[in-house]
Amino acid sequence: MRAVDLIAKKRDGGELSQQEIEFFIQGFTSGEIPDYQMAAMAMAIFFRGMKSDETSYLTLAMAHSGETVDLSPIQGIKVDKHSTGGVGDTTTLILAPLVASCGVPVAKMTGRGLGHTGGTLDKLDSIPGFRGELDRKSFIEQVQKIGLAVTGQSGDLAPADKKLYALRDVTATIESIPLIASSVMSKKIAAGADAIVLDVKVGSGAFMKDKDSAELLAKTMVQIGEKVGRRTVAVLSRMDQPLGNAVGNALEVREAISILSGKNHGDLYNLCIELAAIMLMLGQKAAALEEGKEMARENLANGKAKEMFQKFVLAQGGDVSVVEDPDKLVKAEYVVEVESNQDSYVANVDALTVGQVAMLAGAGRAKKEDSIDLAAGVYLHKKRGEFVKKGDILAEIHLSADKKQEEDSLQKKLLSAYSFSEEEVKKDDIIIERIGLP
Ligand code: URA
Ligand code: CA
Repeated sequence: MRAVDLIAKKRDGGELSQQEIEFFIQGFTSGEIPDYQMAAMAMAIFFRGMKSDETSYLTLAMAHSGETVDLSPIQGIKVDKHSTGGVGDTTTLILAPLVASCGVPVAKMTGRGLGHTGGTLDKLDSIPGFRGELDRKSFIEQVQKIGLAVTGQSGDLAPADKKLYALRDVTATIESIPLIASSVMSKKIAAGADAIVLDVKVGSGAFMKDKDSAELLAKTMVQIGEKVGRRTVAVLSRMDQPLGNAVGNALEVREAISILSGKNHGDLYNLCIELAAIMLMLGQKAAALEEGKEMARENLANGKAKEMFQKFVLAQGGDVSVVEDPDKLVKAEYVVEVESNQDSYVANVDALTVGQVAMLAGAGRAKKEDSIDLAAGVYLHKKRGEFVKKGDILAEIHLSADKKQEEDSLQKKLLSAYSFSEEEVKKDDIIIERIGLP
């Protein structure tokens, strides 16, 4: 087999066999197939697409390109969740303890963030003492003992995807459904989940800007799951405005603690209830969606989810007193407010712009090596559908000490994220569609 012949085959619209795809991915991972040939193949896939079998073979080849995590020592059905990016998405921090408190074991591997805000590990870092890197043995043992552990994704998980993603990033081949779907699913499969719940975001703050492409991506991932024997369900959820009120690491942890303490009934809460319900169904703890939702609401209201979060923070070395006293979380040097300049309904708060403001305030990384200020970010007091009067506080910006000089420009930018309407604005349901629900 020669790489060049396979590139030509895909270029001309042919269908690659499992052997051909494995040959290509193995060669690329080991370095025998150089980046320029992989780049050409990625571009051929970008233009020609892939049949559903090819996409599954690509997923499996990347999933098996490095270490695969064996979660079989943990009893029960291990259900993982993945969100396709988004702004102010604190769902993992809430879902993991919530679902674990309902009896579904959660063995979560997660990453650090790039771009608008931090990843789940960055957020957890804002809890003093928290250890986000567990060795494989402690990781498994902690799930066996308390039902929940979260750790950084090992560098050797799906290395083919890591290498290919970096190449796609610089060859304009990110925006391809088979490449995105196989990238996401390969990591979930390598991480050992029996079943997978996907939260595919749609809207200005998301990877997928429109419903049709999000739906296609979701269907493609659900199909891959079916073909490789992992039950997979996808939810399309709105990401026009940030999901929660908080955007930024410590601010999001605070919001997560508030929801885990039984408060806050906005979009973030509703999406968590939905995703938890599906995870409970896939984990065979709930027979139907409504039953799962009821279990989830109950464990937020009765304190069991919060209790699980406390056990988890304690087990990973964190200062558990922040759960009762979130004021102990790191705080920003400067907090500046953004006021409304009119009497009006809020029509939208553009998620992408809010994410950019949070990043410029110090909350995100532009490059992988950048450090972040865990305290920095944005807190939205007003979101879509709310009525505001001139002079009302719309939002706060929490600034790093070294970003003080950006204050005026960030206030202006954040105000520009808001659009207003004279007429009343309806709040849309956060869930657009469910795909693959049993
Ligand atoms: N996220 C991923 O993990 N992979 C992609 O290709 C796109 C988004
Ligand atoms: Ca830490």
